[in-house]
Amino acid sequence: METPPGTTLSTPSPTELQDRDPVAAEAEKIDMLSTNASKGLRPIYLVVATTPCTMKSSNGTTKSTLGIGKDGSLPWPMIKADMNYFKEVTEKGTATDPHSTISNSAVNSVIMGRKTYISIPQKFRPLARRKNIVITRSGVGQVVDQILDDLKEQKQQAQQWASKKYGEKWLEVLSNQQSDLTMLELKKLRLAQSDIGIETKPTGSLITIEKIPESAIAVVASPQASVDEANESGIFCIGGSEIYKSFLQDEQMRPRLRILQTEIERTDGSDGYECDTFWPEDLENQANNWHEAEKSEVVSWTGIQLPQKELDWHYDEKVGVRLRVKGWKQKGA
Ligand SMILES: NC(=O)c1ccc[n+]([C@@H]2O[C@H](COP(=O)([O-])OP(=O)(O)OC[C@H]3O[C@@H](n4cnc5c(N)ncnc54)[C@H](OP(=O)(O)O)[C@@H]3O)[C@@H](O)[C@H]2O)c1
Repeated sequence: METPPGTTLSTPSPTELQDRDPVAAEAEKIDMLSTNASKGLRPIYLVVATTPCTMKSSNGTTKSTLGIGKDGSLPWPMIKADMNYFKEVTEKGTATDPHSTISNSAVNSVIMGRKTYISIPQKFRPLARRKNIVITRSGVGQVVDQILDDLKEQKQQAQQWASKKYGEKWLEVLSNQQSDLTMLELKKLRLAQSDIGIETKPTGSLITIEKIPESAIAVVASPQASVDEANESGIFCIGGSEIYKSFLQDEQMRPRLRILQTEIERTDGSDGYECDTFWPEDLENQANNWHEAEKSEVVSWTGIQLPQKELDWHYDEKVGVRLRVKGWKQKGA
């Protein structure tokens, strides 16, 4: 009987791989993972903003690298175009992705490490209109307490705003004047009236409620659990360094990864911003198998226009920076 032709989907055993030329075996492994990745598994987007940086090692040598953070925050001042792109992509992105199974009403997921969650200003966290998935090794209870504090603080501020604007009877405003309210007023009033609480999932991951308007939160104990939790939506890993590293080093996830990198450079000729947290992988190094995607392809991934549009860079004269978004995918993916 004739042996059926091999396919890239049949998994070679470890001994089979060992007996072959190691380069060919590695290429076949990558091809196999990539093929599996394109078989319906949604891409996972790593969204990062980087600045050129020099890193000093303990033995005194220096190395050029990409900085992403400083003192638990971003190394650069607020850059509107960067913030807008991040918000648009994570809220509305992936709608035109051919691999996407997302319905228009589905909410995207943003996956982040506990330190990145804390780095978001309190009034903006959890990020609205997205499912926030926070990864922690040690402090599930603490993170949940922190999230509850954030929500209570936001609710209190919304209540203060409502009673100042509408007086003692602010609670009646929502039902009486709904059609006259702007979107922002509606949002604040809903927040002021929201019910904050917690639900625990039997699987061990803790889910904080959906009872604040337009967002949801999960606190999970591993990067893999975070992807399982992001099951109905576009998946965006938003850092920081430790979490990017976990995703990049995970062999199952790696072929599914696409990187949306915003490069940020100063325009006054001075060195980049000082950093203490760094992007963990050299994207230009061939051994890491990254391929820079065409601009049009990057736009098609998310359906969102790049900040630099058709130009090479977008300039922010006020802050004194220029920026551009680049997209990366694994070769063969
Ligand atoms: N430029 C950018 O685009 C960008 C994006 C995001 C963040 N940042 C910056 O990056 C910095 C934060 O990055 P970071 O690397 O210090 O922290 P991080 O990755 O945001 O969070 C680290 C924390 O995540 C949890 N964690 C990490 N790996 C885990 C694993 N494998 N399993 C379970 N939990 C895990 C641990 O939480 P516990 O300690 O609770 O166990 C750990 O302390 C800040 O300066 C921030 O502003 C920059």
